[in-house]
Amino acid sequence: MKPEEINNLLMPFSVELNLETGEMLNPKNHIVRKASDMKGYYADSDALNNLIEKKNDPLHYEVFEVPVPAESGQLMYCISKLQPGKIGDEFFMTKGHYHSIAETAELYICLRGKGYMAMKTSAGKWNAQKMTRGKMVYVPPCWAHRSINTGKEPLISFCVYRGDAGHNYGDIEQEGFPKRIFERGGKVVIE
Ligand SMILES: [Fe+2]
Repeated sequence: MKPEEINNLLMPFSVELNLETGEMLNPKNHIVRKASDMKGYYADSDALNNLIEKKNDPLHYEVFEVPVPAESGQLMYCISKLQPGKIGDEFFMTKGHYHSIAETAELYICLRGKGYMAMKTSAGKWNAQKMTRGKMVYVPPCWAHRSINTGKEPLISFCVYRGDAGHNYGDIEQEGFPKRIFERGGKVVIE
């Protein structure tokens, strides 16, 4: 390799994670979604509006990253932290997305909490994998994915995906997921 090409190479680096608490130390990006960012996603929109008004638009979920260039050979990674709670009787969840390059997979390793990774394809196939500490969920190419927190503490996962995959929130916002996860009579119900 020529010296000028070497100059363009990303230098190796390290990031410290606390696998016990699920924290990324010194993240460069901190993406925050509040309850008001979730309008249109829950079955009970009145309950969401109530929460926004009465609890002063509380934190819903966060993503922590030390980004890498959005290039095909890179691996992007993050910590995702979803608060516990319910909107009406529906458990807190993330918006969910396809990747902009739909044919790119993602790995999630659950570090804390419990819940589900719900997935769907544009043809309407649906799947949910349980998330508990130590569980790794493989989201194959072309599956939209969202996490759902059915526990009492934050659901925290570490994720890795192709650097140029990008996020497509629009399609799943239009389509929605075919199933939702509720608490009914103290039980987790998927319907
Ligand atoms: Fe993703």
